[in-house]
Amino acid sequence: MKDAIRICDVEKYYGNENHVTKAVDRVSFSVKTGEFVGVMGPSGSGKTTLLNLLSTIDHVTAGHIYYGETDITELEEEQLSEFRKKNLGFVFQEYNLLDTLTLEENIMLVMTLQCRSKKEIQTRCSELLHLLGIEEVKDQYPYQVSGGQKQRCACARAIANHPLLLLADEPTGALDSQAAQTLLETFENLNQQMQTTIFMVTHDAFSASYCDRILFLKDGKIFHELSRGNKERRDFLNAILDVLALTGGELSHDS
Ligand SMILES: Nc1ncnc2c1ncn2[C@@H]1O[C@H](COP(=O)(O)OP(=O)(O)OP(=O)(O)O)[C@@H](O)[C@H]1O
Ligand SMILES: [Mg+2]
Repeated sequence: MKDAIRICDVEKYYGNENHVTKAVDRVSFSVKTGEFVGVMGPSGSGKTTLLNLLSTIDHVTAGHIYYGETDITELEEEQLSEFRKKNLGFVFQEYNLLDTLTLEENIMLVMTLQCRSKKEIQTRCSELLHLLGIEEVKDQYPYQVSGGQKQRCACARAIANHPLLLLADEPTGALDSQAAQTLLETFENLNQQMQTTIFMVTHDAFSASYCDRILFLKDGKIFHELSRGNKERRDFLNAILDVLALTGGELSHDS
């Protein structure tokens, strides 16, 4: 399968000449089209920074990020914003839904921004509401539905424009275990049925076990990688837990 993204010697430093934090320290890896990649690592290891670089929200200090043939580190702000709209979908930990719009309107809004026809928007919206199992709450406002339903709406919105890549930072962080499982199964379906490439940051081994591959970050570097291969999810979960145990539980969430 083709590489969807290539990250080449990417560095991100914060600070000044007196004190420099190497948030991401010469990281290189590729993500294949249709791959579901997880990123784990202790607090401060650079997970969110890496996600922000991939999502073009933040700029690299050095190195290159290729989406197909396009080097996004070379794009101007205007081209970047166009690129984001066309290719990327985001699921944040806090959902970021607009409280004054119903769930359905929240989903429709991102499609309106893409200047699609009304009919096209309605068809796609019904499809998404069905796919994510939130049809019955589509006319409710975010404050009237559960965390899991909000997160599924955020997910529908993120994939509405058929992104090349879905980026998610701790998407299950605020969910109870049942809602988390439903969301992960949704990601798994999207990934398998629509070949959506997914890049997910998580502290949680159970969430990570849904991925095809996990990158383990520490001090801004990838220090280990684990592929699921043909393993059952349960066996993959045990392999992930083994890596966490070997690193003295340093990767577990403590904040
Ligand atoms: N805007 C910033 N200015 C200065 N330092 C920053 C900034 N953002 C992040 N850092 C530093 O970069 C390092 C990596 O931070 P990052 O947020 O990527 O970690 P993380 O792995 O996402 O952690 P967590 O699990 O707590 O979310 C940390 O040392 C952090 O203090
Ligand atoms: Mg973070």
